[in-house]
Amino acid sequence: MCGIVGYVGADSAKDVIVDGLKCLEYRGYDSAGIALVSKGKILLRKESGELSKLEKKITAKDFDGQIGIGHTRWATHGSPIRENAHPHLSTDGKIAIVHNGIIENFMQLREELEREHGVTFKSETDSEVIAHLIGLSYAENGGDLVLAVREATGKMHGAYAVCVVAADNPDTIVAIRKDAPLIAGTSDTGSFIASDIPALLKWTRDIYLIENDELVVVNKDEVRIYDADNTRVKREQTHIDWDAAAAEKGGYEHFMLKEIYEQPAGIKETLEVRLGKQGDIKLDGIELSKDYLDNISKVYIVACGTASHAGLIGKSLIEKFAKIPCETDLASEFRYRDPFVDEHTLFICVSQSGETSDTLEALREAKRKGAQILSIVNVVGSSVSRESDHVFYTWAGPEIAVASTKAYTTQLMAFYLIALKMGEIRGVIDKDYQKKIIEELRQLPAKVEKVLEGEKLIEEMAKRYYKKENIFFIGRGMDVATAHEASLKLKEISYINSFSIAAGELKHGTIALIRRQTLFFVLASQDALFEKMLSGIEEIKARKAQVVCITKETNVRAEEVADETFLLPDCMDEVAPILAVVPMQILAYHIAKLRKRNIDKPRNLAKSVTVE
Ligand code: AGP
Repeated sequence: MCGIVGYVGADSAKDVIVDGLKCLEYRGYDSAGIALVSKGKILLRKESGELSKLEKKITAKDFDGQIGIGHTRWATHGSPIRENAHPHLSTDGKIAIVHNGIIENFMQLREELEREHGVTFKSETDSEVIAHLIGLSYAENGGDLVLAVREATGKMHGAYAVCVVAADNPDTIVAIRKDAPLIAGTSDTGSFIASDIPALLKWTRDIYLIENDELVVVNKDEVRIYDADNTRVKREQTHIDWDAAAAEKGGYEHFMLKEIYEQPAGIKETLEVRLGKQGDIKLDGIELSKDYLDNISKVYIVACGTASHAGLIGKSLIEKFAKIPCETDLASEFRYRDPFVDEHTLFICVSQSGETSDTLEALREAKRKGAQILSIVNVVGSSVSRESDHVFYTWAGPEIAVASTKAYTTQLMAFYLIALKMGEIRGVIDKDYQKKIIEELRQLPAKVEKVLEGEKLIEEMAKRYYKKENIFFIGRGMDVATAHEASLKLKEISYINSFSIAAGELKHGTIALIRRQTLFFVLASQDALFEKMLSGIEEIKARKAQVVCITKETNVRAEEVADETFLLPDCMDEVAPILAVVPMQILAYHIAKLRKRNIDKPRNLAKSVTVE
C-alpha cells in the first residue's frame, strides 16, 4: 500500500510532506517522491530506496514552496526504480499526481493515450496513466482541475486514491478516492490530504474521513468535500485520540489483526486485476505455451512455512484444473536431496518476502538443472522475483506481522488463477466449470467479510481454550493444508504445542496421544469428504476428547457430533480453503492475546528468514 501526503499552507510544503511520509514508513515502501508548485512550475524530485535518499535531493533552497504532494511507493506494477516512483507528470509537465491503488484497465488506457494522443510513457506504472488523462483534460477544459480529475477517473476501473496539483494553480490540491483510503485535515497553518491517519497526527487530530467516490478540494484555509454528483458534502471532523503506534495499525491493536481484516481487499485486488471483462484470465508476466505445458513432466512447488501450505493447495488445484503431475517440497529439504529436475520441470516457488534463503537456494538449484522458474511473491523486485522466469505478484500489500495471513490467502488466489489458466491453455478444463469457479472466486471477498463478522464467536471460543497446552488440527483433502496452516499460526504466536495431521492418518499411531479433554480442531470444508470427517470426529469423541468442527453452514449435522462448530458461508469445495483458514487465524490471534504474547513479533522469529 502506498503512502500519500499533500499540504498547502504557510509552512514549507517539503518539510511537512517529508515528516508526514516518515510516519507512513512502517507500511513498507521501495521509493519516494515529492512535487511542489512554485512560481508557475512543478518542481519534482523522486528516488528509489529510502526516504532519507530523497531528503538529500531536496535540500536546495530552490526546491521549496507552500503547496505540494508526496508519495512512498509499494511497487505493484513495475520494479522499484526511480522512473516508477511517484509523483508522475503529464506530458506538458503542468500536472503532477500521486496514486494509491490499482488501475485494472490501465493497459487499455495506456494504449489509447499512446495511439490517440502520442503520449510517451516514462514509467512502467499504471499510475502514470492518470497524470496523462488529467493533463489532457485540464488542457482541453481551460484549467478546471476538478472537472479534469472527474473526467479522468471516470475512465478508470479499479481502486484509487489520487492527489493532483497543477503548475498554474498554487492554491489548490484536488483529491479523489475509490476503494483506497483518503483523509483530510486542517491546522492553523494550512490544510492536509493523506492516505492514512499517522501522517497528520503531528499537525492535527481533527480529520475529515473521505468516503468512497468523494472528491476533495484542499485550500490553505478550507477543505471542501463533494459527492459523486458534485454536491457539496457537509462533514463533521473526527477527533483521533489514538497514539502514533495505534494509528499505524489503523486502530487495530496489532498489525496481525489489521492484516487479517485486509484479506477481502487483498484477495479482491489479486483476483480482479487479472480478470478481463468477460472473466477471462490474463496473467501478465507469465508466458506458458500449450506446447511447453503439454511437455512438462512434473511441476515442483517449493516453499517454506506458511507459503509451503499454500503450495499444498496449489498442488491439488494444478492437478485438478491443469491435469499436470505436481510434487510439493519444503525448500530446506529440496535443495539437499539432489532432486530430479530437467528442462521439462516447472519449478513454482512461493514466498511472501521473496528473500527466504532456503527458498532462494532451492530456486537456484532448480534453475541450474534446467527448470523454468515461476514465482508467487508479494514483494516486487525481491531476490526471488528477480531470479525467476515468470512472476505472479500477490497484491496483499506490505505484511508487517511476522505471522503471515493476508499473504497466504492471496497466495492461494494466485494458485487458483495459475492452475485455471494452465488448464485453459492445455484445453483440459471444461469452460463452464472454469466460469463457475471464477464466479465462486469473485464471491470470496464478501464471504471472507462474513467470516470476519464471526470474530466475537471465535474470541469466546479462545477464552475457553487458551489455557490448553496441546491443541491438534486435522483435516482431509485440501483441509490437511488448512490444518497445517492453522497449527502453525497457533504455534508461532501463542507458543502452545500444536500439531496437524491428515485425519485418516490418526489411527496409524497418533491416536495413542488422545485422552480425556484433548482438544481437536477438525477442518471439514470439503462436502465430498464430510461423511468421512464425521466418522473421524466420532472416533475422537469415543476417546472423550473435545472437538471443534470448522465446516460449511450446509453441514449443520456436525453440531450433532462435535462439541462446538464454526460454520463457514457455503461455497464450492474447490474454493473453500480461502474461507476455512480465516477462523483459524482469528483463533490463533485471540488465544495468543489471552496468553499475553508479543503477537506481531513472536519470540525467536523473523519476518523473513534470510539465513539458513
Ligand atoms: C508464517 O506465518 C511464518 N512467518 C513463516 O512460516 C513464513 O511463512 C516462512 O518463513 C516463509 O516466508 P516467505 O513466504 O517470506 O518465504
